[in-house]
Amino acid sequence: MGISRRDFLMRVGQAGGYSAAFATMQSLGMMPMKGALAAPIEAVAGSGKGVKVVVLGGGIGGLVSAYELKKLGYDVTLLEARERPGGRNWTGRDGTVVSFVDGTKQTINWEEGNYQNLGPARLPSTHWTMLGYARELGIPMEVEINTSRSTLLQNDNANGGAAVPQRKAINDTRGHVSELLSKCISQGSLDSDISKEDRERMKAFLTIYGPLNATGNYVGSDRAGLKTPPGAGGQTAVPEAPMDMHMLLDENFWRGMLYEETWDWQATMMQPVGGMDRIPYAFAKSLGPIVQYNSPVTEIRKTSKGVSVAYTQGGAAKNIEADYCIVAIPFSILKKIPNDLSPEFKKVVDESTMAGSYKVAWESRRFWEQDCNIYGGLSFVSQGPSPIWYPSSRLMHPTGVVVSGYSEEQNTPFFDMTLDEKFAASRASIEKLHPGHGKELKNPIFCGWKHVVWNEGSWIRNYGGGPSGYDVIIQADGPLYFAGDTASHVVAWQEGAALSARRAVGMIADKTKMAVLTGLKGITQS
Ligand code: ALA
Repeated sequence: MGISRRDFLMRVGQAGGYSAAFATMQSLGMMPMKGALAAPIEAVAGSGKGVKVVVLGGGIGGLVSAYELKKLGYDVTLLEARERPGGRNWTGRDGTVVSFVDGTKQTINWEEGNYQNLGPARLPSTHWTMLGYARELGIPMEVEINTSRSTLLQNDNANGGAAVPQRKAINDTRGHVSELLSKCISQGSLDSDISKEDRERMKAFLTIYGPLNATGNYVGSDRAGLKTPPGAGGQTAVPEAPMDMHMLLDENFWRGMLYEETWDWQATMMQPVGGMDRIPYAFAKSLGPIVQYNSPVTEIRKTSKGVSVAYTQGGAAKNIEADYCIVAIPFSILKKIPNDLSPEFKKVVDESTMAGSYKVAWESRRFWEQDCNIYGGLSFVSQGPSPIWYPSSRLMHPTGVVVSGYSEEQNTPFFDMTLDEKFAASRASIEKLHPGHGKELKNPIFCGWKHVVWNEGSWIRNYGGGPSGYDVIIQADGPLYFAGDTASHVVAWQEGAALSARRAVGMIADKTKMAVLTGLKGITQS
């Protein structure tokens, strides 16, 4: 039996971390975008009247569920353990407290206006659903600069450890590869693969693409950078000499070059003006009292009529009965809540494991803009915390927040380091890329999602029962439905959370429709 693409991606994710999985998604060619475009939920407005749904968890999956249910007229309550909406969609600003399960607390101390999206920090232009909600909710958006040719690649074992601008690495590699291909064609190595006509066309293309000179050689290009920029008077542009092909191949130096080609990291990417949390706050505003904060769930039970959910609010024990329940709580937390999941579902949740992505963010003078001509984008180091992610917001402002280290920390030495050691390693990465500037970094914050209270993981890594566990939890377990990126093929993206939420609402709407037809509206048909 063939392996499904999802199975394959989960395995790649396990072996190589999320970047490997995403690169693979890209090379496999993700689902056609139109397929992911959320169609209107097939139910008429008001069709949910008289049916009660409780939504557990106020991340994007829970918020979208409640928002769509409300539109359809359901009687909705959303229980959120925290005092804020958004879940992993969390923006750190001055005064934000990052609390870990071991009791560690870090309070952000940054200038007003500086912020860091500690969870999601970019929205692809192909994520129609999330961008659609941003439009619908009137959230001002701006470009998230996910790629810049001025950013850097660095490897301790290549080029004497000196960082190289991406424009140079990318364009010199392209020039060398074009030259080699052009030579192969000229020497007849590809005669059996392409026609004579196409060989000539290919050579003409490579001359421009390389670019190559009249003898088919790559001798450098202004695309790769200039030793002297053009100026006034007699100052003409002088291109730099090309980097040696051996150096470019050395130690996978080129890895970071392909980053921007990944399907869901391609320009144009976007972000809400002022912080990603503008999205959950806009949903929450629209939902009003439907969202109940400081209300952690303590028990989830099935009843003859639907569900009974116990929770606490301000320390008081409470209970809510409903016809249906959408569970949008991370599996890491759900597995600790006594519940009536049926054995097949329970196994998937209980035996699941979570990835542990982290970010380290620093406030600093914008030396990357002022001294290095870098405006947004990401630089990569091969040894140590990476990538370095420069802010897209408030360009030209004197100070900003830069990320140095955004990666999986589990099974790496980083995981066991003390906070101070993590900060030292993060600072060292900046120093490698921007010698002399490491000391400018101040007020660091470490957000390791594996440690964050109410998350204990950044996103799903493995489903209990193997990859087929996914096929289990996308089904209804009686009155219980799952939402969140975990219940989608778009893991680690808000789009996945939104799509799964819309699907869960659609499934409930189908059930409600059936109940109306059979005269049993308001009674679960499981
Ligand atoms: N979607 C996440 C990102 O873009 C993983 O970094």
